Amino acid sequence: MIRKKIVAGNWKMNLQLEQALELVKTISNQSTDISNVDLIIFPPALFLLEIDKIKSQLKVGVQNFYPKENGAFTGEISIAQIKNCGASHALIGHSERREIFHESEEFIKQKVDAAIIHTIGVIFCCGEPLHIRENNSQFTYVKQQLIDSLFHLSDDEILKCVVAYEPIWAIGTGKTATIEQAEEMHSEIRSWIAEYYSQEIADSISILYGGSCNGTNAKELFACPNVDGGLIGGASLQAESFITIARSF
Ligand code: PGA
Repeated sequence: MIRKKIVAGNWKMNLQLEQALELVKTISNQSTDISNVDLIIFPPALFLLEIDKIKSQLKVGVQNFYPKENGAFTGEISIAQIKNCGASHALIGHSERREIFHESEEFIKQKVDAAIIHTIGVIFCCGEPLHIRENNSQFTYVKQQLIDSLFHLSDDEILKCVVAYEPIWAIGTGKTATIEQAEEMHSEIRSWIAEYYSQEIADSISILYGGSCNGTNAKELFACPNVDGGLIGGASLQAESFITIARSF
């Protein structure tokens, strides 16, 4: 079974327009020969239109959107609007949205549904906080996140999703999960997909690792049989490290 390999860059609330365009140009120029990995960048949504003009082979997604068609939702952007500006993917369920912006499982589920309806590729983020890992309840915790907001999808719909496992204690901390911890959780996630859907579907869905993944540790993480790529925060803000990660398979 050949699963898609993906390296995605979550820029979060970083960079000014000029820097963002420069980064897109450099990444796209330096990755023309990378054909075995899908590269997806998630810039601040305001920059989508400008990036769309120069993105060449790169795919572009949004870090956030509001799951309603239109209406009185001051400050929000809809999926139709982001599609209009060239986005093909969306991050959903990122721990920063869950924690800082109090996005509930139910709201995250609505976002998944809205993305599916509008054929936006879903990168569904899950992962446990430190105290859950310390209690050794990480498997129950992550499985519940998937059950609550993702596993209601049909077979065809789940096949349009990618799962990103991001242990919260590893995000932006420089403290990566060990390869054993990453592989163990990824293989559990795949087994839950097989339990709720089928082995064939589980084998087709890419599962990315995120959390202090960088040019130095990507190689051994991506060598794990159930790690199909990475969701990269800090190290995606420099073309060199992002490209090094993309070449780590
Ligand atoms: P990090 O962020 O690579 O900076 O740890 C990952 C993420 O939040 O997606």
